[in-house]
Amino acid sequence: MTAFRTLDSADVSNKRVLLRVDLNVPMENGKVSDSTRIERVLPTIREIADKGGKVVLLAHFGRPKGRDLKETLRPVAAVVAEHLGRPVGFAEDCVGPAAKAAVDAMKPGDVVLLENTRFHPEEEKNDPAFVKALAENGDLWVSDAFSAAHRAHASTEGLGHVLPAFAGRTMQAEVEALAHALEAPKRPVLAVVGGAKVSSKLELLGNLVKKVDILVIGGGMANTFLAAQGKAVGKSLCEKDLLDTARSILETAKGAGCEIVLPVDATVASEFKAHAANRVVSVDAVGPGDMILDIGPASIETVKAKLAGARTLVWNGPFGAFELEPFDTGTNQVAQEAARLTRAGQLLSVAGGGDTVSALNHAGVADDFSYVSTAGGAFLEWLEGKPLPGVEILRLR
Ligand code: 3PG
Ligand code: MG
Repeated sequence: MTAFRTLDSADVSNKRVLLRVDLNVPMENGKVSDSTRIERVLPTIREIADKGGKVVLLAHFGRPKGRDLKETLRPVAAVVAEHLGRPVGFAEDCVGPAAKAAVDAMKPGDVVLLENTRFHPEEEKNDPAFVKALAENGDLWVSDAFSAAHRAHASTEGLGHVLPAFAGRTMQAEVEALAHALEAPKRPVLAVVGGAKVSSKLELLGNLVKKVDILVIGGGMANTFLAAQGKAVGKSLCEKDLLDTARSILETAKGAGCEIVLPVDATVASEFKAHAANRVVSVDAVGPGDMILDIGPASIETVKAKLAGARTLVWNGPFGAFELEPFDTGTNQVAQEAARLTRAGQLLSVAGGGDTVSALNHAGVADDFSYVSTAGGAFLEWLEGKPLPGVEILRLR
């Protein structure tokens, strides 16, 4: 892994530090419903402020087309302040006079959040004039937004070309955790890939079979693999047009010496509903009216046994319809076993990507994993083996 410039080598005292964070947090009825991303960036904010830097926060929110106050970051500034236990100022624009006035008024140790960078379409275009306008309010740029690092936008990448660039503590921790998991891992490495669709994870599966020793496939996408092996899947989610693709992934795995683990039994129901009447069947005995909603007990035992022999786990995607009881059983039990092995010091466990974090929270074990990424798309692109522009720009060249 190429080294980064981190905060260790940044002289921030009395400097205006443009700190890119990911404050794209879920909101319900105008309130932040999950503040994990906010909590993750607090150490970097505190460190810079405590070293006498002026912390100028840059962030996006939602996907507005131009300035649209439905996606203002103003309410988020208040939540950051609450978690930080210090005041956080707010400027109504991330460039121009409003931003300049707010930053000019800052004293060492102050924190100000600038309005949604995506209120300017030039942000997503990584427009050089916009990068320059952002850079006018900073002496250096620190990125702590791994979860937005798959975007080559002005604030996530462009600034690294015009200002001295450093990785924040969260970015640093995230990249280090991911490197331990796939770049130079302790073997055997076991990957769990679940979720609904093979189609959304083709590149990811193609990359993982070449890198990991065991690939456990769960969730709706396992049905497509079962169907590719000639099994009936009844009314289950299944991408019939991808059977050849699934077969070729199995072939690639064989050639690469990657063991693929598919479910051997399933919990089926006739409707997609919590507490729907259900039964366990072998994957060879799924009936025409059955819908596979979770892996069965024999599959759970198989995955646990494989985990016991693994030293590294990379997890993306749930095993079943974890949001509907009791179809969360497979995900819960495997997650709890991974947590136990991690606590015992036997396993390095890294998880990430959209649903995965909520599935692990639901299983009550997110804190026991070695590292849980808050990234969605960025985590997937990393699993696909793609360089992330917002990470590459930070590497020492
Ligand atoms: C995310 O929430 O995945 C990141 O903040 C990136 O947001 P985006 O998918 O809208 O670019
Ligand atoms: Mg996204």
